[in-house]
Amino acid sequence: MPAPTHAPVSSEIPCLDLPDPEATERLGALFAEFAGPGDVLLLDGQIGAGKTHFARALIQTRLGVAEHVPSPTFTLVQTYEADCEIWHADLYRLTDPDEVLELGLDAAFDSAICLIEWPDRLGSAAPKGALRLRFEQTEDGAARRVCFETNTPLLRQVLEAWNG
Ligand SMILES: Nc1ncnc2c1ncn2[C@@H]1O[C@H](COP(=O)(O)OP(=O)(O)O)[C@@H](O)[C@H]1O
Ligand SMILES: [Mg+2]
Repeated sequence: MPAPTHAPVSSEIPCLDLPDPEATERLGALFAEFAGPGDVLLLDGQIGAGKTHFARALIQTRLGVAEHVPSPTFTLVQTYEADCEIWHADLYRLTDPDEVLELGLDAAFDSAICLIEWPDRLGSAAPKGALRLRFEQTEDGAARRVCFETNTPLLRQVLEAWNG
């Protein structure tokens, strides 16, 4: 795999090139290694940007088995029991931020690893210490890149391992 690039978006927080789906999976697996209960990953990006692909790799790695991980497009939330709970949400169809409470997401933010697609739907319910990742297609659509929009201890661990 080619060496990752380090185009900074803000001081020292890089974007990573993800040249193929395996690179997205490798990043998901690294997050699986270092994330813990209370880590909330906000997965921004357009349809097809690779959010679900990333979340699936993270979940399967943490579960330790290749369990079927469907996109939560219609269910809004799928939960998994690894050594801790993992919540995978796709909030595209959320119409009212109050539904966040109905889904129980606010409690999960504290106790689970939470992977949230379309996190803009959370409005003010987005937890403060969350890590925001923006997935993008490259211009020709063949590859992806991810930019990190906040810095957290979890991100520093993952980047160290990615570059290691
Ligand atoms: N780094 C990558 N390079 C090329 N294709 C990728 C990469 N990462 C994921 N994909 C592909 O992008 C497609 C859409 O991904 P998906 O995760 O469903 O997008 P989203 O959840 O953002 O709508 C999948 O077919 C997946 O294999
Ligand atoms: Mg998706």
